[in-house]
Amino acid sequence: MTICTAKNYDHMSQIAANILAAQIVLKPNSCLGLATGGSPIGTYKRLIEKHKNGDLDFGEVKTLNLDEYCGLSKDNDQSYDYFMRDNLFNHVNINFDNVNIPNGLEADAEKECRRYNEIMAQNGPIDIQLLGIGTNGHIGFNEPSDYFTLKTNHVSLTQATIEANMRYFEKADDVPKTAYTMGIGQIMNAKKVLLIASGESKADIMFRALYGPVTPQVPASILQMHSNLIVIGDEAALMRVSK
Ligand code: PGA
Repeated sequence: MTICTAKNYDHMSQIAANILAAQIVLKPNSCLGLATGGSPIGTYKRLIEKHKNGDLDFGEVKTLNLDEYCGLSKDNDQSYDYFMRDNLFNHVNINFDNVNIPNGLEADAEKECRRYNEIMAQNGPIDIQLLGIGTNGHIGFNEPSDYFTLKTNHVSLTQATIEANMRYFEKADDVPKTAYTMGIGQIMNAKKVLLIASGESKADIMFRALYGPVTPQVPASILQMHSNLIVIGDEAALMRVSK
């Protein structure tokens, strides 16, 4: 595990974007595992800047997103499909045929999980997986549980996640209650994992995830077993880890 302490959110984003950019430069047809949420927005901004400066070509890049809310269409501005287009894809030269996100409108969960597993098998292995972390330790939407999920699954979001994500919706009732997410086993199959975290609210969970017992009650704790984990956190998120 490599742990890198950044000065603040912007610095964290700069480091994460440099690592992703290096991956694309070294292997232009890299398969990137991508995340949504507040944590990666700055990273994506930096990647867009690099592209606009002529330093980064997404022409052959393939992407597999971690998760998607059930019941939201791609045009809903809270869907992760919309988020990815708004925060990254619409601003770089990615080929949309190479973009993959679970389909939140597919009501048949078994069918959608099977479809996404097949897409992952065809496009993987993921060269580098970008990950945020929930304050309850979730990665993707793999919530605390009695077991580690292997493949794409249909999950019920915990109250903690619904409350954390409420800030993006008008009211709590609008937050979808279920989602599709890549499984923990699929995340662990990525060749490299890049975990980013910012702010004091992540300090406790970062400590538990990186140094606590490996348990599905803290899904991110499994990352301790990954052979190529890079952690980039700002000082606040890493205050219990670095000392
Ligand atoms: P955040 O969410 O980046 O908005 O903090 C992370 C997560 O819930 O996985």
